[in-house]
Amino acid sequence: MKHEFECVIVGSGGAGLYSALETSACAKTAVLSKVYPVRSHTGAAQGGISAALGNREEDKPEWHAFDTVKGGDYLVDQQAAMIMAQDAVQAVYDLENRGLPFSRTTDGKIDQRRFGGHTKAFGKGPVRRACYAADRTGHMILQTLYQQCIKNKVTFFDEFQVVDVILDEKTCKGVIAIELATGQLHTFAAKSVLFATGGFGRIFKITSNAFANTGDGPAVLARKGIPLQDMEFFQFHPTGIKGLGILITEAVRGEGGILRNNAGDRFMEQYAPTLLDLAPRDMVSRAIMTEIAAGRGMRGDKKIDDYVNLDATHLAKGVLEAKLPDITEFCKTYLGIDPNETPIPVLPTAHYAMGGIPTDLDGRVVIDGKGTIIEGLYAAGECACVSVHGANRLGTNSLLDLVVFGRRAGIHIGEYVKHIDFPAIPADAAAEAQRWIDRLTDGKTGPHGGHMAEEMQTVMMENVGIYRNEADMALAVEAIRNLRDRYGDVRVQDFSKPFNTDLLELIELKNMLDLALITAASSLNRQESRGGHSRHDFPDRDDANWLKHTLATLDGNQVNLAYKPVDTSIWKPKPRAY
Ligand code: FUM
Repeated sequence: MKHEFECVIVGSGGAGLYSALETSACAKTAVLSKVYPVRSHTGAAQGGISAALGNREEDKPEWHAFDTVKGGDYLVDQQAAMIMAQDAVQAVYDLENRGLPFSRTTDGKIDQRRFGGHTKAFGKGPVRRACYAADRTGHMILQTLYQQCIKNKVTFFDEFQVVDVILDEKTCKGVIAIELATGQLHTFAAKSVLFATGGFGRIFKITSNAFANTGDGPAVLARKGIPLQDMEFFQFHPTGIKGLGILITEAVRGEGGILRNNAGDRFMEQYAPTLLDLAPRDMVSRAIMTEIAAGRGMRGDKKIDDYVNLDATHLAKGVLEAKLPDITEFCKTYLGIDPNETPIPVLPTAHYAMGGIPTDLDGRVVIDGKGTIIEGLYAAGECACVSVHGANRLGTNSLLDLVVFGRRAGIHIGEYVKHIDFPAIPADAAAEAQRWIDRLTDGKTGPHGGHMAEEMQTVMMENVGIYRNEADMALAVEAIRNLRDRYGDVRVQDFSKPFNTDLLELIELKNMLDLALITAASSLNRQESRGGHSRHDFPDRDDANWLKHTLATLDGNQVNLAYKPVDTSIWKPKPRAY
C-alpha cells in the first residue's frame, strides 16, 4: 500500500509528537509508531523536566547550560546546550499552557525539585530546577502532546514498524513500514522524514528501557551508511530495582533519599562531598559499583547480586504518596516492600543513549564534520545526537531535549516542505525490505532469535557496561560480529500474518545487533575515561587526544571511525569535581 505525506514522523514519544504539533500546523503530517502512541517510552520518564524558572530559588539558564556541559564531561556542544537551557523556560510554560498538570507550589506556581548535577552559580550547591508532575512527568507530557496532535488532525499509523528508509546520496524520500496488524508492507513517500524512535537500552541485559526500545531509527539509517555519533556513551542510571532494572527515579534522592552501604553509611560523602547523592549519574553509578566491589554492598543471593540501599524511610510523612506515588507502587508490586518503612534495594540499570543520529540545531541529519546534510532527513529525541548530553546526560534534560529539539525540528520541516515538490519514489522502493522479510519467513529452520538476543544482552552488560577495558570490549566486538553472522540463519517459527511478534522480534534483533556492534567498536577505540565511558586501563580524561566526537559508520561487520570537533566556545574544559 502507498501513502503520500509532506512530513512523516517515525516515533510517537515526546520528540515525535512535539514535531508533529509544529508540522501539522502547515503540512500534511503522519506519525508512524510501533506502539500505541501514549505507550511510548517517554511515558516512563518519572522525575521531571529541567528549566531555570526560579520558582523556588534563584536560577538562570546560564547556570543550567553550564551544569549540562560539566555534567557531560565537556563533550557537550556548548552553543547547543545554551540554546536548550534558554528555550527550556518557554518550553515548560508552553506545556503548561497546553494542559500539562504540573505539581504546584503552595502559591500556585510550577513546583521544582533537586536533581543530579543541577547547581546554582556554576557549582556552588544544589538548586531546585526540575519541574515535575509527581513522578509521572513523562507520562503527562505524552498525554498532553497526544491530545494536541489529535486536535491538530495529525494522521496516526499506530503499530507500524519502520523497516527501511528511501534515501539517495542527497535526499530522503520516505520510509517503508510493516503494519503489525496485517503483516503488510507500506510505502510512505514524503518530502521530509523525522526519526524520533527513542533509545536502544534493550541491547543490555538489565535496563530501565521498554521492550520497544530497540533503536530502529538509528539502525535503519546506519545500514544506509549514515554515521552514528558518540555511541560509546551509554548512561547507567544508578537506581534501578535490583535484578529487574525498573527505574526508581532520581527524584527520590531529589526529595532527600540517601544511598547507603552495608554499614549504613552515606557513601556518596566519599565521592561527591558537595552534591552527595545528587552528583551526576555516571559518578553515582561508579560509586555504587566501587562500594560493592569493596565488599560494602548488601549481600544478594549470589555475589553478583550484591546491591546498595536507597533509603527513603526518613522522608516526611506523605512525601512519597504525594510526590512519588508511582515508585511507591512499583516497590510494593515488584519488591513487596513499602519504601516508607524499608529501604529500596537498587543497582545501576542501562538507561539512556547519549549518542545517536548526528543532527544540527534544527534536527537536520549531518553526516560529517563539515556539516553536510541529507535534504529532508531529520532526527530528534534520544535517537538523535544534537550533542547536548556529551558523555553523560543530566537527569531531566532528556524530556527537555525532546521538547526543545522536537519543536525546533518541526518548525524547520514546516518551512522546508513549503518549497519543494514530492520526490519521485523508485517503483521497487520496498523490494529490499520485502527480501528481508521473505528470508525470515521462508520456512527454513535456524537459530532461535530470542536466545541470540539474550546472548547479545549478556555480552554487552558484562563487557561494555559501567567499567570497561580493552580485553572485554574486544571480546564484545567479536561476540557481536559472530551473532551478526549467525543472524543470517535465523527464521521465524510463527508464519501467521496478523501481529506476528516473532517476526517483529527478529527485525528488532537485527537493529539491536547493528547498534551493539557500533557501540562496542566505538567504545573500544576511545582510549580515555569520560562521563559514562569509564576504562580501568585508561582511567583519566584525555582532552589532548580525545576531546572530539566519534562518527561511526557501519560497513558489513566493520565499523569505520572518524572524529569531529566539540564546540567548546563558552567554557574551557576543566576537571570535574562535585
Ligand atoms: O530518574 C529519573 O526520573 C529519570 C529521569 C531522566 O532520565 O531524565
